[in-house]
Amino acid sequence: MPEPADRQADRQAGRQAGRLAIIGGTGLAALEGLEIVREARVETPFGAPSGPLRHGRLHGREVIFLARHGPDHTIPPHRINYRANLWALKECGATAVVAVAAVGGITHEAAPTRLVIPDQIIDYTWGRAHTFFEDNLTEVVHIDFTRPYDSALRRRLIEAAAAAGLDVARHGTYGATQGPRLESAAEIDRMERDGCTIVGMTGMPEAALARELGLAYACCAVVANRAAGRGGSDAPIEMAEIERNLVQGMAQVRRLLSQLLHQDS
Ligand code: HPA
Repeated sequence: MPEPADRQADRQAGRQAGRLAIIGGTGLAALEGLEIVREARVETPFGAPSGPLRHGRLHGREVIFLARHGPDHTIPPHRINYRANLWALKECGATAVVAVAAVGGITHEAAPTRLVIPDQIIDYTWGRAHTFFEDNLTEVVHIDFTRPYDSALRRRLIEAAAAAGLDVARHGTYGATQGPRLESAAEIDRMERDGCTIVGMTGMPEAALARELGLAYACCAVVANRAAGRGGSDAPIEMAEIERNLVQGMAQVRRLLSQLLHQDS
């Protein structure tokens, strides 16, 4: 099928200018203030992404927004087509991706509503399509993943947070679990022994796939709740609490993104 002319133009323009994509997670299904210029429904060799790619302008900068769980938040973490999402973003000219993600806080510092810019990941997921390098290869490929997040993009996020007066944790280890259930207290204990400071369900394979495609990728995590067994009581984690904290957390994410784009312009 011939490629639509606007997609080809997008890709060229995006690569020249260095175009930012934002993947919105739970609590950020739409990007307030984004003037949508166009919505692209992209098919990839790996199937369809979670929804249309929204091309728009935010604070004068071109950005592409994709809701990770779909526009109506109906795709659970283990069913997200991560390959299609990353492929489609690259196809439309993205060169960098800021992944916004709701997480549970394992350590004391990862307190509800706080933002964390993680610098490491441990992958506990299983059975997800996690690589582009498996079929029709001319050679076996092993990407480097020593530093799973792009250092320059992380730095820009941290600087933007400081300029916006936001208190962010500048380091963190994201433990990616399979979901969709939350973890048991013993699983969180094990993750803490492993060195995880936050826990979420979508960080992998997203980060690795971005690296395979050569996209600069960093995560802005929003702590939605204290992780299982970390709340100081045996009380279950309530969705209402998560939602309340995310409203506050995502307001900070918007300030951070707005500052990031101002810095760019
Ligand atoms: N665990 C995993 N993923 C999450 C959590 C959690 O406690 N909170 C928000 N996303």
